[in-house]
Amino acid sequence: MISTLTATHIQKSYSFEGIEQTVLSDINLTFTQGQLYAITGSSGSGKSTLLHLLGGVDTPTAGKILFNAVDINAMRQTERTMLRTKNIGFVFQFHYLIRELSVIENVALNAQISGINSTEAYDKASQLLDHVGLRQEKLKYPHQLSGGQQERVAVVRALINSPTFILADEPTGNLDAHNAQALMDLLLDCHKQWGPGIIIATHDAAISSRMTHVLNIKDGVIL
Ligand SMILES: Nc1ncnc2c1ncn2[C@@H]1O[C@H](COP(=O)(O)OP(=O)(O)OP(=O)(O)O)[C@@H](O)[C@H]1O
Ligand SMILES: [Mg+2]
Repeated sequence: MISTLTATHIQKSYSFEGIEQTVLSDINLTFTQGQLYAITGSSGSGKSTLLHLLGGVDTPTAGKILFNAVDINAMRQTERTMLRTKNIGFVFQFHYLIRELSVIENVALNAQISGINSTEAYDKASQLLDHVGLRQEKLKYPHQLSGGQQERVAVVRALINSPTFILADEPTGNLDAHNAQALMDLLLDCHKQWGPGIIIATHDAAISSRMTHVLNIKDGVIL
């Protein structure tokens, strides 16, 4: 079965100091497993907001997010956690690595949560970290890494369970052109290997040009 992630009549507003700001107005989109999407738009246009809603990290003010026609915000907490662990690999714009865990522990933990035994989780984490040039950093802690290295750890952590969808918020924001390209190559390798849907929020034209669908957010709507 090909999975889908759908936004229906999504609205998101924030209220700050008594002023209501509508970031997303009426978003209707379906993302399909196996397809490559870029979400573009100027800073503050709502790219991260949309990705957080799609990933079940945040809840919409109105409308629904459906994973295979099931409303993810109507799921029980444990069901939603499992969905996020197994089906939706999320790369946050600000990484959110666990400070108290080493690089390899950060990555392997995500596999262990999904039920993989610890030897296999560490083997897989180790292989993926080698693949993104972090062979020497596995035992370091997040504060001992550069911004771009943290970024690569965050991407690898999102990939380890071979999720149905990979949602990545500016995954190359801290990388030089060479490493940005290598990270995109890794994501496209994953796409070849198990065919996830990939949704990337980005300002980088070099990335959106490698995606098959480019969506642009402006004034709360998709152009
Ligand atoms: N928790 C919050 N409370 C109030 N306003 C918020 C909150 N989170 C986001 N916003 C506002 O929502 C708007 C969209 O933010 P968002 O982070 O989605 O933008 P973005 O397109 O990802 O921008 P960037 O390219 O800079 O990452 C911004 O105007 C921001 O100030
Ligand atoms: Mg953002």
